[in-house]
Amino acid sequence: MSSSIATTQIVRPARTLQGSVTIPGDKSISHRYAILAGFAEGTTRLTNFSTGADPHSTLACMEALGATVVKKDATTIAVTGAAGSFRQPAGPLDCGNSGSTMRMLAGLIAAQPHVFTMIGDHSLTLRPMERIRKPLSQMGARIDLVDGHAPMTIYGGPLKAINFETPIPSAQVKSAVLFAGLQAEGTTSLSEAVRTRDHSEHALRAFGATLDRAGDRLSIAGGQQLKAIEATVPGDLSSAAFFLCAALLFPDSNLVLDSLGMNPTRAALLDVITVLGGKIKVLTVEEHHGELIGTIQVNRSPEGLKGVEISGALSAQLIDELPVLAAIAPYTRDGITFRDAKELRVKESDRIALVAKNLKSMGAEFTEYEDGLAIPGGQTLHGATIDSGTDHRIAMAFSIAALRATGDTEIRGAEAAAISFPEFFSYLDLLCKR
Ligand code: S3P
Repeated sequence: MSSSIATTQIVRPARTLQGSVTIPGDKSISHRYAILAGFAEGTTRLTNFSTGADPHSTLACMEALGATVVKKDATTIAVTGAAGSFRQPAGPLDCGNSGSTMRMLAGLIAAQPHVFTMIGDHSLTLRPMERIRKPLSQMGARIDLVDGHAPMTIYGGPLKAINFETPIPSAQVKSAVLFAGLQAEGTTSLSEAVRTRDHSEHALRAFGATLDRAGDRLSIAGGQQLKAIEATVPGDLSSAAFFLCAALLFPDSNLVLDSLGMNPTRAALLDVITVLGGKIKVLTVEEHHGELIGTIQVNRSPEGLKGVEISGALSAQLIDELPVLAAIAPYTRDGITFRDAKELRVKESDRIALVAKNLKSMGAEFTEYEDGLAIPGGQTLHGATIDSGTDHRIAMAFSIAALRATGDTEIRGAEAAAISFPEFFSYLDLLCKR
């Protein structure tokens, strides 16, 4: 985000939230389709590709590696892949703000016979990369980091299969190992203590790879070629989360979202919403390339919002939704506590610290832990100046907290929303009744 111009958005309190919208394409799936399309043989056609800046950073990297990207309109793209052989890029691969780009793509390029340098913006340069260096160097790649961080230099070459246990729940690390395993000698196997989002597994299969699962162990044989696909990216549930949580704030809210990604490894929020006192009706559901896509309707139950405690595996599965849950927590009856979420401190910002700082600005009480927050319910918040810390999810989460505050809220660094959801503020305006 360092190159975009800082903007401030004023968010006024709302009376209710009502409407029916289609949420733009999922960021996680867009990254994976872009990466695998850029590697595959043939031309992949994608519709409803994410409008977020992050997946566009991935597309630019794929072009630098030899893929051809044609953008038909904002969300329809054709990617002609490098058919398994990337070229030596002319300069560094710029991953912008995107940890997904840097970590997942590292796995794919580690097997290619070139030297690659991956760079990112200030936030990405602070994020831990040792977690991918470790398995990829076990497979035979040489990777140089600066004190565990980007810039990262990958000396690619032939890789050998490994058996890997993921020490931290991370779909990005899992994907890096699978993408490297696809090209390694032998069969790479991997198990995760917490089952993280499985979009890479579905995407690899869609592009023609064979991937086996036995219990919680995944395995992928090396030397597989990928073939282009046609696909529509489902709507992003993590973007929808802001409006789903906003709908819980008002007794007469009514929100309908169609073409929404409902992959069970991403949908823990829907269960939490039900526990809190939201009513979710699944109106339609179908499957494309292993991903569930549906239409849902959300209302709040007349009894209002209860509270919830989130810990263990659930925290990992909800990691991207915790900031917005924290933002609505003061308006619940019993509060929201989340623990075992230390990973939040190494996201696009230290999200525990920034949530705490902004809750405090709005006058909320809470307890901060190293691995989470306990936020009591039954509180009244006032409008305040919010610091997004150039973190997209913080900018959007506190725009939702603002809807029930007294007075207006000023979101500084609101432009960060464009990392995953450039249309966020126009959707907010459309859905909020004032
Ligand atoms: C993502 C995985 C998660 C998530 C991120 C996107 C992905 O990160 O927080 O926004 O697309 O695989 P980790 O894998 O680092 O937990």
